[in-house]
Amino acid sequence: MMQINLTINGQGVEELVEPRTHLADFLRDRLHLTATHIRCEQGVCGACTILIDGSPARSCITYAALCQGAEVVTLEGLENDEIIESLRTAFSIEHGLQCGFCTPGMLVTARDIIRRLPDADEARVRRELNGNLCRCTGYAGIARAICRVLEARRAAAAKPETSTAFKLGPVGARHLPGASTTEKKRLPQSAPKPEVSCVDPKDLGKDLGLGSRAANLETSLSFTVAHGADETWAALADVENVARCMPGASLTEHSADGRLAGRVTVKIGPIATNFIGTGLIVRDEEARRGILYGSGRDRLSGTTVRAEVSYAVTGESDTQSRVDVTVRALLAGALAQFSRSSIVQDLVGRITAEFSRRLQQSLTDPQSVDTSETSLKATTLVFDVVMARLKSLRDRLFGRKQADTNNDRNAS
Ligand code: FES
Ligand code: FES
Repeated sequence: MMQINLTINGQGVEELVEPRTHLADFLRDRLHLTATHIRCEQGVCGACTILIDGSPARSCITYAALCQGAEVVTLEGLENDEIIESLRTAFSIEHGLQCGFCTPGMLVTARDIIRRLPDADEARVRRELNGNLCRCTGYAGIARAICRVLEARRAAAAKPETSTAFKLGPVGARHLPGASTTEKKRLPQSAPKPEVSCVDPKDLGKDLGLGSRAANLETSLSFTVAHGADETWAALADVENVARCMPGASLTEHSADGRLAGRVTVKIGPIATNFIGTGLIVRDEEARRGILYGSGRDRLSGTTVRAEVSYAVTGESDTQSRVDVTVRALLAGALAQFSRSSIVQDLVGRITAEFSRRLQQSLTDPQSVDTSETSLKATTLVFDVVMARLKSLRDRLFGRKQADTNNDRNAS
């Protein structure tokens, strides 16, 4: 077994691999990033195409061990990529897929064509696609979809993007010991070591929070606490207390400069997630505002999350304060499908409600917050969420019918 360190979809990954394990197996079996499909395993069909250091590569013929230090991006990591979003729409309009088996590799290749060749015509697009095989749709719709995006970008005068690809050598091999590279090593394995007082907070959080990425989950909530603003602000400064109040959260370490590490356990129906991650809290004591920058990964599902949680405390009276919270997060991977669902929005709302209840409890009687039940309560919360959704569905289906029946009765 060999130890490898690489970045996958923006997250540092450190794993032991067999020298013969290919990257596609590693991504699918070890990290559960199943958007990468495997068909021929000979580098012919292109189903397994991913990006290694920005260049498309066949993951079925790339040894994972050769990717030491590389930056790998799979289709999951392109969830919010602007070109991929346009391609998704265009593939749908132009009937660019049928069974969808070739589609992840097609999308990665199509994105590369659009970035490299903004002036390509259909003949060039077809030529560029000759390394990606589709056995059911055929290529007409796929080529049309790519041309549609190219035309839209030309109309909007999008600039071509310069490739960072190396001129020679297979992708994946450039990080071998002794390989010449001018690229700086990109292994954000540990939290940055900030001087909170003299560094721009945006820079502090960029490796942990969203950075320039767009969020796919965004929600704002407020709650009131029956204690003055100073007291509430002080309670929020106590990181251990905050972790105790947060359902499903536990802290493994934290330091005086705001860095922390821990885990958050959440259950969505039958799916249990256990996000392990690091974070950084930056506080503005005078304005009573703070931001938590965090990132984490659920090892089992391979889901990654990057989040920024801003909060502000305002005093409403000596005995009452208000806490405004905004959560912006980017979920990528298997559970990203839930990011836009109202179940997650409900879940965040309920976790916040439970957090505010516990925070209040901790201010009144610090001993009364029971940490042993945090995970259990998270489960209960989710059960409540699912039940509430089912109830609302039932009301929509049968409540109206019932109302209509009553109206009919009244009319007759
Ligand atoms: Fe990798 Fe076919 S599965 S090229
Ligand atoms: Fe089925 Fe391409 S859509 S293989």
